[in-house]
Amino acid sequence: HRRPIIAIDGPAGAGKSTVTRRVAQSLNLLHLDTGAMYRAVAWLVMRSGISLDDEGAIAELVTQANLELIPAEPPNPTRVKINGEDVTETIRTPEVTAIVSQIAAKASVRQALVQQQQRYGKTGGIVAEGRDIGTAVFPDAELKIFLTASVEERAKRRWQDFKEQGREEISLEQLEQDIQARDYFDSHREIAPLQQAIDAIKIDTDKLSIEEVTEQIINLYEQLD
Ligand code: C5P
Repeated sequence: HRRPIIAIDGPAGAGKSTVTRRVAQSLNLLHLDTGAMYRAVAWLVMRSGISLDDEGAIAELVTQANLELIPAEPPNPTRVKINGEDVTETIRTPEVTAIVSQIAAKASVRQALVQQQQRYGKTGGIVAEGRDIGTAVFPDAELKIFLTASVEERAKRRWQDFKEQGREEISLEQLEQDIQARDYFDSHREIAPLQQAIDAIKIDTDKLSIEEVTEQIINLYEQLD
């Protein structure tokens, strides 16, 4: 018997990471950021200079990679290491974001990462965020949330984040376009596309604060029997 699992899926910029981190902290669950895993592999492919079309080389790279997630004291994000190198910050750069969906669409990459994710979830007690958690990684999760918001709102939030980090060079229009393109790609790929699980609860966060969304999820979790 395992402890419960919460699956949180949704498009880019819906607030998954912030909300998941807070839910994990409140309920004392392990936070599994699966997007960070795909980003780490994308970073490794980029750094290796392998062509994004070289399926064989990417498959070999991912099966031999040592990907480590090192939980940090909340509210700090989990540290991510690949082949011993700490990539926690570099996996958030626009260069990685621009190619991650292409990498995440590959069968070899998904197979390796999903296997590792399922190992983390073996004894439960985790809240995992991504695109295919409720549909493919943990289809038997006790609580499934589909977190969404309008593309305008999501772009605005990303833009605010960038501004706070002192990176104002990217326009709101550009962010909106990038988010839309990534969502389209993630929703239309062949393997485990982004979609709401039939038994997921949809939360539209357009008019909700982070606190309100977090509270809703905690309430739903506490109602589980
Ligand atoms: O959540 P985040 O924006 O960090 O995810 C980066 C990318 O990783 C997504 O756009 C998607 O292509 C991929 N991803 C995925 N499956 C997941 C999590 C992320 O395909 N479970």
